[in-house]
Amino acid sequence: MLRFPDYVQVLVTGGAGFLGSHLCDRLIGDGVAVICLDNFYTGTRRNVAHLLDNPMFELVRHDVTFPIYLEVNQIYNLACAASPIHYQFDPVQTTKSSVHGAINMLGLAKRTRARILQASTSEVYGDPDMHPQAESYWGRVNPIGPRACYDEGKRCAETLFFDYYRQHHVLIKVARIFNTYGPRMHPNDGRVVSNFIRQALENEPITLFGDGSQTRSFCYVTDLIEGLVRLMATPDEVTGPVNLGNPGEFTVRELAEKVIALTGSRSRIESLPLPADDPRQRKPDIDLARKTLDWEPKVALDEGLRRTIEYFDRLLAAGWKSG
Ligand SMILES: NC(=O)c1ccc[n+]([C@@H]2O[C@H](COP(=O)([O-])OP(=O)(O)OC[C@H]3O[C@@H](n4cnc5c(N)ncnc54)[C@H](O)[C@@H]3O)[C@@H](O)[C@H]2O)c1
Repeated sequence: MLRFPDYVQVLVTGGAGFLGSHLCDRLIGDGVAVICLDNFYTGTRRNVAHLLDNPMFELVRHDVTFPIYLEVNQIYNLACAASPIHYQFDPVQTTKSSVHGAINMLGLAKRTRARILQASTSEVYGDPDMHPQAESYWGRVNPIGPRACYDEGKRCAETLFFDYYRQHHVLIKVARIFNTYGPRMHPNDGRVVSNFIRQALENEPITLFGDGSQTRSFCYVTDLIEGLVRLMATPDEVTGPVNLGNPGEFTVRELAEKVIALTGSRSRIESLPLPADDPRQRKPDIDLARKTLDWEPKVALDEGLRRTIEYFDRLLAAGWKSG
């Protein structure tokens, strides 16, 4: 087996997606060689088009539910549709991406002795009866509901990570990511920030689920990426899970009002029925990330929204159409 002790070759699965493409940017900026692997289910070549001419960057079309053999020494496993609209479209594929994807990537990490980081999610906490959610909380997930393909898929992936760690001594890192937003989110993915911004820019009604009193926390993408890179760099014994997110808590209605104010939109706010198993409250406890990674988010919601609005504004001006 080939080894490159002084050379870091990083695999980013889901690298053409929203978070993955920002992670590729960050790693390439750090001078690291990156293989970006994606099946373009929700991600696009456009997100990484600016990296294609860089000799340190390679784009591979592949589905993580099938094995792949590459020489790498770090793996960031992000491949999985993340928005409810997309992950519920083909729920069996969603579970496969998480579970078979984890098995294949952990197998690769075992063979190459690479460190591997799993992009897990706050959804492992389900509709929590503990607030804010610390890593020690085991969650409250409906295993048979429409969100289960994602939530239980991600929970099973965490199980696999810890079993590969205990049984095969694979060096694992598990990040539980809370709502993250920023440029390159898919404008039609139904996630609350992208939805509100697109609706506001198009002066369409802003659609709230329920009365909008449910709370969410919103982490700007560059803050999240910094957390992932720091977690990957921790000593071998640090496995996580570690919550990464912004503990600032806002109601969904407050978010809608901010977006309307920042875009100067004429949109009005409209209520729709609450979807099944929609969590009422979501806020990370990030004490562990503060202690272990010396990390906390830096970008305030207003600033992050401004940057995201600029991106969506350019996208819509360039002719992107919803529907
Ligand atoms: N953005 C968030 O707020 C958030 C929160 C929690 C967890 N996460 C996790 O972070 C990761 C990235 O999320 P994102 O927001 O960038 O979503 P995204 O949908 O933009 O990115 C997912 C990427 O994975 C690719 N993909 C999906 N299935 C695949 C497969 N079987 N094989 C290869 N590629 C596949 C998609 O094409 C896409 O490029 C996901 O694993 C998600 O669960 C994100």
